[in-house]
Amino acid sequence: MSTVSSTVFWWIIISVWMLITSRGDTEVSCVLMQKCMLPCSSQDVTQIIIHWFKMSGDIHVHSFYNNKDQHGYQDQRFRDRTSLFKDQISKGNVSLQLAGVKVQDEGRYKCHISTLQGNRDSFINLNVNAPVQKVNIQQTGNQMTCSSEGLYPKPNLTWTTSPPSNMSLQYKTTAQETQQLLYNINSSLMVSERVKDLDYSCTISTHRNRKRATLSRASSVISSYTETTLPCSSSNTSLRKLLWRFNHGQIILTKTGPDAKYTVSERWKQHVRGVSESGSLTLQNLSADQEGTYTCELSDASETITTNIFVKLNQGNSTNIESAIGWVFAVVLVGAAVAGLVLFCKKKRDKKLCSSECPKLSISSGRRANFYAPEFANF
Ligand SMILES: *[C@@H]1O[C@H](CO)[C@@H](O)[C@H](O)[C@H]1NC(C)=O
Ligand SMILES: *[C@@H]1O[C@H](CO)[C@@H](O)[C@H](O)[C@H]1NC(C)=O
Ligand SMILES: *[C@@H]1O[C@H](CO)[C@@H](O)[C@H](O)[C@H]1NC(C)=O
Ligand SMILES: *[C@@H]1O[C@H](CO)[C@@H](O)[C@H](O)[C@H]1NC(C)=O
Ligand SMILES: *[C@@H]1O[C@H](CO)[C@@H](O)[C@H](O)[C@H]1NC(C)=O
Ligand SMILES: *[C@@H]1O[C@H](CO)[C@@H](O)[C@H](O)[C@H]1NC(C)=O
Repeated sequence: MSTVSSTVFWWIIISVWMLITSRGDTEVSCVLMQKCMLPCSSQDVTQIIIHWFKMSGDIHVHSFYNNKDQHGYQDQRFRDRTSLFKDQISKGNVSLQLAGVKVQDEGRYKCHISTLQGNRDSFINLNVNAPVQKVNIQQTGNQMTCSSEGLYPKPNLTWTTSPPSNMSLQYKTTAQETQQLLYNINSSLMVSERVKDLDYSCTISTHRNRKRATLSRASSVISSYTETTLPCSSSNTSLRKLLWRFNHGQIILTKTGPDAKYTVSERWKQHVRGVSESGSLTLQNLSADQEGTYTCELSDASETITTNIFVKLNQGNSTNIESAIGWVFAVVLVGAAVAGLVLFCKKKRDKKLCSSECPKLSISSGRRANFYAPEFANF
């Protein structure tokens, strides 16, 4: 055999061997910050020696022999985070529990067991996931932004509209890696001037989950000081959680489910009259301090629908239509008064011009005659 063909031969042997051994790896998916179990078992447990290694760099993760944990060789990175199920070892269960999972824990692990019957190695592939917790969506002017933090692996972000639009959405997404190797994702979209009646949704997905946030068309309400009802627009009332906010910060009201009782924050107690089944908020006893943006958030495990409503309070105690009627009424009154005055003056002038017939006329008009009488006396 030539050197070339023997090299190829060994290369094939090694590749096949690696494929077989890596196929044998147990895949474990762990969630950031949580506990995670790396499974391993042994047929024989007499005089058992257990060593757990992380393969990249041959890091000592955990050891057990002489019937107790041995921390002497343990790497700093795993200090106080590893444990075996002591009551299970005698049954051959030598699984390792890892607490406070970090992205750096990702990789291939070796479970090495040594007993009187011999040695055995098994391998575990650990993957870390940091699922989407919350998707933030906001609009300032024509720019809409969507963001989420602390995700792993690198998430995907997509924008959609409701109803669906064939217009191409223009947006820019950036993902930043933090020191903890997590991703913060951020995308901004220019809202089209041409198409007004669209709700925009942003979906962020990782391998483990996906969450969608929808911003319903912002609307505004001109309300009276006495009472107003703000709709929480959503076609979907099956969403479980309700939250009302003021000016993107202060929490006004929360409700944890459709049948749960709502809780009003202390500073809004005197202003909240109630909340309807669909989530509409009724406010009362308002002052200029309550002018601003009200946000309704309806959510369930995978979706949040956000609706912004800008509330402007009307001067005076009336609604728009009432004040319009008021204005019409006032104009009519003033008009009548002016007309009356003109008539009065005209009459007076006529009287000044008239001759001796006048007193007779005045007398016939009853009380008024007495009023005019002194004037005539002066003639
Ligand atoms: C080992 O013990 C743990 C804790 O009781 C258990 O969750 C796990 O399923 C066991 N594994 C095996 C392979 O029996
Ligand atoms: C989008 O659809 C409308 C009608 O539904 C059509 O008139 C318009 O040309 C379409 N625009 C594009 C970019 O496809
Ligand atoms: C998103 O990115 C833009 C520009 O890169 C930045 O101005 C903005 O503050 C970021 N928003 C968030 C929520 O991180
Ligand atoms: C993101 O999208 C790409 C292409 O569509 C896909 O290959 C990848 O698996 C996705 N990643 C996640 C975290 O869903
Ligand atoms: C309403 O919510 C349910 C469950 O959350 C979902 O399956 C359904 O698609 C939603 N309907 C609409 C119109 O968004
Ligand atoms: C209305 O508001 C005032 C102060 O803003 C408060 O003193 C009063 O108790 C409130 N009335 C009701 C009915 O809550």
